[in-house]
Amino acid sequence: MDEIKNKLWAVGGGKGGVGKSIVTLMTGVSLARLGNKVILVDADLGGSNLHTLVGIRYPKYTLADFISKKVETINEVILSTPIENMNIICGADDILGMANPKYTQKTRLLNHLKKLDADFILLDLGAGTSFTTIDFFLYAPNKIVVLTPQITSIQNAYGFIKASLFRYLNDVFSKDDQALALIKSTSAPVDGEGLDSIGKLFEAFKALDEGRREMLLNCINDLKIKLIVNMLKDAREKNVSNIVKSVAKNYLGITIEDLGVVQFDNILSSSINNMAAFLTRKREGLAGINFYGIAQDIIKSSQKATPLSAGAPETPAAR
Ligand SMILES: Nc1ncnc2c1ncn2[C@@H]1O[C@H](COP(=O)(O)OP(=O)(O)O)[C@@H](O)[C@H]1O
Ligand SMILES: [Mg+2]
Repeated sequence: MDEIKNKLWAVGGGKGGVGKSIVTLMTGVSLARLGNKVILVDADLGGSNLHTLVGIRYPKYTLADFISKKVETINEVILSTPIENMNIICGADDILGMANPKYTQKTRLLNHLKKLDADFILLDLGAGTSFTTIDFFLYAPNKIVVLTPQITSIQNAYGFIKASLFRYLNDVFSKDDQALALIKSTSAPVDGEGLDSIGKLFEAFKALDEGRREMLLNCINDLKIKLIVNMLKDAREKNVSNIVKSVAKNYLGITIEDLGVVQFDNILSSSINNMAAFLTRKREGLAGINFYGIAQDIIKSSQKATPLSAGAPETPAAR
């Protein structure tokens, strides 16, 4: 179990076009070049395109073959890429309904994912906040949210984090009607009657027992998210991560960390139609250096021993 804790990383972010796939790919390339065995998984079941980025036009096998049980094990759908040490499991958007696999299909997939033989498994998630996307994100012990300095991307990143927290709370308290009613009043849009912050939800939970309050607190502290600000054109823009961090702290009680920034790189955007050639040329470029830094931090954090006790969790303040 501990192993999966270190190796499975999900890359989400809510908005399309912010660079989730590029971040997954380039982080994977850097991890592989640093000597790690990497598997990229295209979990964007509605708009998969990670295979195109590694130069695979028509994947021989995709996740669809696994989900529809055409193959027995997930190992059979792993394909190689032009990068040594880096393999890929291609996405599947060609099959009706695949973007919303059934619960049992999802569970089987997640169970197989954790058995994959790799140092790092990177999940490239789809845009939006569909339950499937959020469930992949919640399942992965390591969670990355990608955003750009654009205001819409900041909003979507926060929306994605909020949706994840509430999906998690709904799941944990799924059999507790009293708690669910309170959670629902917090997640509903503010209309004068709703509770608009986790702090207020925590206050409302005082009407319930100590055990459930503690559960709520544990959920909030469990959700550990790291941010990557992508397509930076000006160093000052990296402050956008502070906006997400402070809003998430103030309204959701979640502590978010920075994983790094990636500069806007003309070579990267102009190579998009031939990424495979770009990758094998091994030219670093501005963004390439950023991705090495990110990969190094990921390696470091995966080597960090999990502390025995993380100390007393903080109580979120009502606002
Ligand atoms: N750091 C960057 N510099 C320049 N262009 C980038 C950068 N990151 C992503 N892009 C470009 O943005 C577009 C969208 O990226 P993509 O990874 O497909 O987004 P998403 O997966 O979030 O939808 C691509 O055309 C890609 O080349
Ligand atoms: Mg993508």
